[in-house]
Amino acid sequence: MAFLCAQCGHRSVKWFGRCPGCGEWNSLEEIQAAGKDSVVDSTWLGEELRSISEIDLKNVHRLPSGLVEVDRLLGGGLVPGAVVLFGGEPGIGKSTLLLQMAEAMARGVGKILYVSGEESEGQVKLRANRIGANSERLFVLSEQSLHRIMAAVENIEPLVLIIDSIQTTADERVAGEAGSVKQLREVCSALIQLTKTRAMTTFLVGHITKEGSFAGPKTVEHLVDVAIYLEGSRTEDVRMLRSVKNRFGATHEVAVFQMTGKGLVEIEDPSRFFLGDSDHPGQPGSVYVPVLEGTRPILIELQALVSPTGGYGVPQRRCTGLDVNRVLLMLAVMEKHLEVHIGGADVYLNLAGGLDVRERGTDLGVITAVLSSLRNRALSGRTAVVGEVGLSGEIRPIRRLKERMAEAGKLGIQRMIVPKSPRIGKPKGLEVVEVEHVSEAIEALSFE
Ligand code: TYD
Ligand code: MG
Repeated sequence: MAFLCAQCGHRSVKWFGRCPGCGEWNSLEEIQAAGKDSVVDSTWLGEELRSISEIDLKNVHRLPSGLVEVDRLLGGGLVPGAVVLFGGEPGIGKSTLLLQMAEAMARGVGKILYVSGEESEGQVKLRANRIGANSERLFVLSEQSLHRIMAAVENIEPLVLIIDSIQTTADERVAGEAGSVKQLREVCSALIQLTKTRAMTTFLVGHITKEGSFAGPKTVEHLVDVAIYLEGSRTEDVRMLRSVKNRFGATHEVAVFQMTGKGLVEIEDPSRFFLGDSDHPGQPGSVYVPVLEGTRPILIELQALVSPTGGYGVPQRRCTGLDVNRVLLMLAVMEKHLEVHIGGADVYLNLAGGLDVRERGTDLGVITAVLSSLRNRALSGRTAVVGEVGLSGEIRPIRRLKERMAEAGKLGIQRMIVPKSPRIGKPKGLEVVEVEHVSEAIEALSFE
């Protein structure tokens, strides 16, 4: 016997009035473990058993999603029989992107069924008008009932099914509201089963809570084949689609989009997008850093502003797009190993373009930008820096240095300070300076 919390999915062997997992009252329900009475076909003799060498992959061919960047993210298109969890905060653009994909696929490959449990058909049509979706092979259904959705699938036989969202779809035969753990599990398993038997591809939209996790049990993420998340900030129009799980390709890939009045537009060359056309830095406090998003290098501009804290105020440390704790660490490294005193100054850091980077390759960039602003002197020429900085000031190697150098070279960087690494191939036309310590890196920088 076991009990399961309908709210958070916490499992226990004993009943509690209040769930030990999430603190919700009266949410534990008894669940039946699959036991003796589950049916096993004992007459099967294993005729279809095959050796792995006999399994033919020729029949598995991926469908293009109609968006180049999404195909790249998924590892070359949609796999028949695959279920993709598509997560994101409300209002970030999930419905928009999926409707765009649905339209492109309806034009390119065949019938698509888009089911909305949140909006009426009229509302979906309004959005479709904005992005110019009008294909005859794109079917729209406003429905929350799992069984009606399944009936619609049997009827239309789509190549791709989109459920917007999994939290608004419910199986009437199961107790609990739509979105509860029990319902999510039930709806997911039923749709996965249907997807596999029909060899279609299904997208399940899932809402993300403010804390950034999927609003449902982790089990949903385990059940699906692919999990991708759409991220971005509401103030900036940049959106990143990130894969966190992919049974058919690499994970931690990203695709970059821009939200426009006509839906999301793919940005195939993110570096150029984030840098714009301008020729600075050349400004005090600015430095180029090739960061890594997934396996893809993107050259960005990191800016620092250091100004004296007025009166007896507490020095401020603010950053956008960077991890503030990491920045505090870098400021401490500067105090200790470069003897640069910033205790009486406010420090503001910003990544141009609205990108949010959680990567240690930016460490040296932070130090360089702060120093440049503090001295009020710009870096000379088109210089980029990259490297992780350790607590004793040592510069550590980073992943994919070669690709980062190539990206910087491509965008006209002339000089680059990098961690010392064995056998790095230097791109033509790029002066590469290898360093092992921050002090060495700072010496290698030339200011105007
Ligand atoms: P939506 O796809 O509804 O988000 P989600 O499904 O993730 O909740 O998109 C919501 C926002 O996108 C909304 O604020 C309006 C904006 N938007 C545009 O800027 N351009 C467009 O072409 C469309 C369709 C939406
Ligand atoms: Mg939506």
